[in-house]
Amino acid sequence: MHMPKVTFIVNGKEQTVETEGGKTLLEIAQAHQIPMEASCGGNGFCATCKCKIQKGQENLNPRNDREEAMGAGEGERLGCQASVQGDVTVELLPA
Ligand code: FES
Repeated sequence: MHMPKVTFIVNGKEQTVETEGGKTLLEIAQAHQIPMEASCGGNGFCATCKCKIQKGQENLNPRNDREEAMGAGEGERLGCQASVQGDVTVELLPA
């Protein structure tokens, strides 16, 4: 089975990792020592995990109410609420 690839862009540097489908961007980042912040512990209440999806939005689950409430804008997701089904490229945003 094809393993989804997630490319994280951190301060202009790219790092691509493979993952099982269904994990959140936050879980994937934490498993690979990528510095995505998660002040609320991944519960959708802090927005420090907010990131910009550069490619592959269609390979993520639909946005949820927490993301709307936390003001994730066009092309943005909360890393803790976005689960990966296919290849995506994600830019970390300053908290
Ligand atoms: S970790 Fe707090 S909103 Fe995602």
